[in-house]
Amino acid sequence: MYRYVGNISDLSHDIIKNYVLNKDVAIDATLGNGYDTDFLSEFFSKVYSFDIQEEPCIKYKEKNIENVEVINDSHHLFNTYINTKVDCIIYNLGFLPGGDKNITTNHITSLESIKLGLELLNSGGMMVICIYRGHNEGKIEETCILQYLKELPKNKYGVMVQSYLNRQDISPMMVIVEKK
Ligand SMILES: C[S@@+](CC[C@H](N)C(=O)[O-])C[C@H]1O[C@@H](n2cnc3c(N)ncnc32)[C@H](O)[C@@H]1O
Repeated sequence: MYRYVGNISDLSHDIIKNYVLNKDVAIDATLGNGYDTDFLSEFFSKVYSFDIQEEPCIKYKEKNIENVEVINDSHHLFNTYINTKVDCIIYNLGFLPGGDKNITTNHITSLESIKLGLELLNSGGMMVICIYRGHNEGKIEETCILQYLKELPKNKYGVMVQSYLNRQDISPMMVIVEKK
């Protein structure tokens, strides 16, 4: 078992835990099975969690976690539900593990959401995007998202990519954006 290079999702949590200093408001842009929301709810005062599928939303609401607001809608509609700045946003793109593989995030709405999310981020805030390139839409998301983030002004945002060099090209990758 690797301590650092094992699992990008666990690594994303460690980065957030250690480097996001102000832990007031967070967004889980893709609730799914709630692994990221569980993590965020432990460290942030308030968490907004989005998913377009009703089932994961109902399931998570049943947990009755006080500081989590579950929103059964698409993450490209952040502004309909959130009218405050946020300190952290997590995306775990793709389809729900164990669910319908045809219901997946989409490059158009993912990118729209990322653009809005960057506006919502507080100074010192972080956005972490885990991209799963093993399916067609994931490959398109990778291209569009990297192309967009590459052009962000470096005096305002730091953008870093983590990927496995000695695994297949389709292995998951993570992008970290820190707002100055
Ligand atoms: C890889 S899973 C997320 C895993 C999750 N973060 C966890 O901890 O288990 C991706 C989720 O994104 C959801 N999704 C797809 N398109 C979405 C959209 N436009 N807005 C919000 N959620 C979306 C899917 O329904 C699916 O549950």
